[in-house]
Amino acid sequence: MKNLLCEIERNIALVTVNRPKSLNALNPETLTELIALFQQLAEKEELVGVIFTGSGDKAFVAGADISDMQGYDVFAGREFGRLGHRAMDAVASLPVPVIAAVNGFALGGGCELALACDIRICSDNAKFGQPEVNLGVIPGFGGTQRLPRLVGTGQALELMLTGDMIDAQEASRIGLVNRVVAQDELLAHCFGIMEKIAQKGPIAIKLCKEAVASGIEMDLARACRNEVDLFGVCFASEDQNEGMKAFLEKRQAKFKGC
Ligand code: CAA
Repeated sequence: MKNLLCEIERNIALVTVNRPKSLNALNPETLTELIALFQQLAEKEELVGVIFTGSGDKAFVAGADISDMQGYDVFAGREFGRLGHRAMDAVASLPVPVIAAVNGFALGGGCELALACDIRICSDNAKFGQPEVNLGVIPGFGGTQRLPRLVGTGQALELMLTGDMIDAQEASRIGLVNRVVAQDELLAHCFGIMEKIAQKGPIAIKLCKEAVASGIEMDLARACRNEVDLFGVCFASEDQNEGMKAFLEKRQAKFKGC
């Protein structure tokens, strides 16, 4: 891979977009690599989760690559949008949790990439925005859909219609990020969350993510029936037996992920 770095330690993958000269902008090559990488990660049985970040201390991802998009016609624009959506979906549909460690600018496609992750933690210098209207386009990698679902239509539309950037504190206030931490503590903080997740039953972790991701697309009654089914599925696992037995025996559970 030319534009992404991936290191796996204690079954936690750290994925870094590595195009610092263009503030980690997403070009077609990077998006294609991202899809292939997440397909590989999805097949890793032991994987606890992924932490996603950007290279350098200035940007997470400053958006889709404008120098690439500039010459597109309608067909190329649609094709690029499709590719971006496939990449965001590859992140969102990974069976294990993905944390965005937002270490600077998360604009346009960069904000959309953070939105495709399950949890967003940012550094105090982070800046968020959907500045596409400044370029004569609309958000094209899921921003018009995932942003209002996360922060509500009013906040999402203000960001999309003004193109304004907001700082880390404001992103936290509107619920775009879970937490703001000092930049030099960002990765350690995200690893800390993953280490905590690693102690839990892996099947329950995956089913939690599935229940939320599939349920959000349904009406409440169907989503609750879906939850009941997935809750039931937990009882087919050894992890459920071990987790409840360990509680009653007042000891730490030893989950096996089966
Ligand atoms: N695409 C391509 N190159 C980019 C880029 C992008 N999205 N963002 C930054 N760069 C490049 C700059 O062109 C510059 O390159 P050169 O050194 O070769 O000139 C380099 O990164 C550094 O950027 P700046 O000099 O502009 O740095 P700055 O500190 O002055 O400003 C910034 C930082 C505010 C993030 C500014 O770079 C900026 O506004 N970038 C564009 C942000 C944007 O509009 N993103 C949305 C893209 S559209 C999109 O994403 C559509 C979609 O939904 C899919």
